[in-house]
Amino acid sequence: MCGIVGYVGHKRAQDVVVEGLRRLEYRGYDSAGIALVADGALAADKRAGKLANLEKAIADTPLPDSTTGIGHTRWATHGAPNDVNAHPHAGESRRVALVHNGIIENFAELRAELEAADHHLLSETDTEVAAQLLELEVLAGADLTEAMLRVVRRLEGAFTLVAVDALDPSRVVAARRNSPLVVGIGEGENFLGSDVAAFIEHTREALELGQDQVVTITRSGVTVTNFDGTPAEGQRYHVTWDLSAAEKDGHDWFMRKEIFEQPRAVADSLLGRRTPEGHLQLDEMRLSDQELRDVDKVIIIACGTSFYAGMVAKYAIEHWCRVPVEVELASEFRYRDPILDYSTLVVAISQSGETADTLQAIRHARTQRSKVLAICNTNGSTIPRESDAVIYTHAGPEIGVASTKGFLTQLVACYLLALYLAQVKGTRYGDEIGQVVEQLEAMPSHIERVLADQEAIYALAREHVGTRSVLFLGRHAGYPVALEGALKLKELAYIHAEGFAAGELKHGPIALIEEGLPVFCVVPPAGRDQLRDKMVSGIQEVRARGARTICLVEDGDDAITPYADVVIRLPQVPVLLQPLVAAVPLQLFACELATALGHDVDQPRNLAKSVTVE
Ligand code: F6R
Repeated sequence: MCGIVGYVGHKRAQDVVVEGLRRLEYRGYDSAGIALVADGALAADKRAGKLANLEKAIADTPLPDSTTGIGHTRWATHGAPNDVNAHPHAGESRRVALVHNGIIENFAELRAELEAADHHLLSETDTEVAAQLLELEVLAGADLTEAMLRVVRRLEGAFTLVAVDALDPSRVVAARRNSPLVVGIGEGENFLGSDVAAFIEHTREALELGQDQVVTITRSGVTVTNFDGTPAEGQRYHVTWDLSAAEKDGHDWFMRKEIFEQPRAVADSLLGRRTPEGHLQLDEMRLSDQELRDVDKVIIIACGTSFYAGMVAKYAIEHWCRVPVEVELASEFRYRDPILDYSTLVVAISQSGETADTLQAIRHARTQRSKVLAICNTNGSTIPRESDAVIYTHAGPEIGVASTKGFLTQLVACYLLALYLAQVKGTRYGDEIGQVVEQLEAMPSHIERVLADQEAIYALAREHVGTRSVLFLGRHAGYPVALEGALKLKELAYIHAEGFAAGELKHGPIALIEEGLPVFCVVPPAGRDQLRDKMVSGIQEVRARGARTICLVEDGDDAITPYADVVIRLPQVPVLLQPLVAAVPLQLFACELATALGHDVDQPRNLAKSVTVE
């Protein structure tokens, strides 16, 4: 939420900052702004709406040349998304400019203090308060780094701040607490970004910062301190993906590109997980076998799509490990006084690794002495760093706001975790575990097969341009898929969509069925006859009431055909693994329908990737 860029070096800062913002725009697109240091003054522009508005403004009225600058793309929290509330914000004397991601919780108090001292604030934002405080420290004689240290000690809440001083073009200073920030290390230049995409075309060397740290970048160096001023060291790492991963590569949308990357992402997430003897190994599993054997309850916490991956994980862990599992929305978790202790394993699933609700939930779990294991796609992000163990997914950067390859690779990690627990606890034999791993290894080619039917799904999507409501039904592992299908449609096509456990239909939702209502039905594989037969009854019931049934059915299951208005074929896979193939047509459908409706698929309205506020 909100993308932040900072640069000091030898290139034209405007180009570096705007390019960085373009790559971070998925984090928020309510407004965008830039501030440069040029000839002892600030040169800035900021515009409501997408980055394109800012680009046009600075093309019409160019900013002066500069090699030091900051930029911001906003997802609004305090104040409407207009020009005035857009970042950067400057102090009253226009000496300091600052951009911010997060929420400063004590801003009302600080604002009142500034106003009482006759300082005039232009915007409704919490950010301007921080800019004003920072400037007052600089005007009082502190250098920008010292001023930042003094200000952050007064702030409460979550924030990344990045600032420049008009009279000191040699440095950009940033601070982070509970909000993302990474440093890019270049040659004769250094970068700051909410994530590495901001500077990936310039350098793949990055520095991960800890909590409550201030960093100063100059052309030739990077200095990190804790908020109390003591020296600190960031952790250096090499980014394993390159610029091409952050480009659309001929696709109209990042989302579409990412859907088609799924076979590769799934294969990569499975790589290196087996020893030559056939045992499962999870390199980042820092919990000992004994700690895992002591686990008598698992609680999975996550939000949105990641939560649906967690629902599948519950089925897998309970089935293979015979350990009770609860799945909980992270935003609800710590507020309901959950029962946790040292024998509870908390599994946090987060693609971004920065989701505030999930982060706060794991912090709560750790105060209760529970062990926390993160499933995450983003190296060096906060959630894995604050967890006891981590399973990284290897999807590469996910830029489309709607999660796709993030979801499928989370499923893979959940299966691996379930199988690993079963191996350690001895609830399943090696042969059986090996067999499931082989089935997982076959998944990339099954997903390819589903993707090959893209044109039929696209045609189906285009038929639904006038549709106002769609239902999704599933049972067992197909139920989370139904929920995920509905979420994709809501967020991309802005169509009313709901997912239900098919068995629940007759307890209420069937009243929604009317003539022509499209109902997607995720049919369990025929191997699970009881389950499948019950699903078939559900399909008959909705069809009898006029629904248009669109059935996702495995190859060879022709018994469904009489009740299906449309059949989407899925490869034959075990029921627990079916989400890996069944989710894909629903992603394609939502992407294509949103495109046909003229929506921006990568930047759906009101949303942002990486929700760093609670
Ligand atoms: C939906 C979507 C969101 C995220 C949710 C959690 O397509 O992407 O629902 O799944 O915001 O995000 P992470 O996994 O980054 O914690």
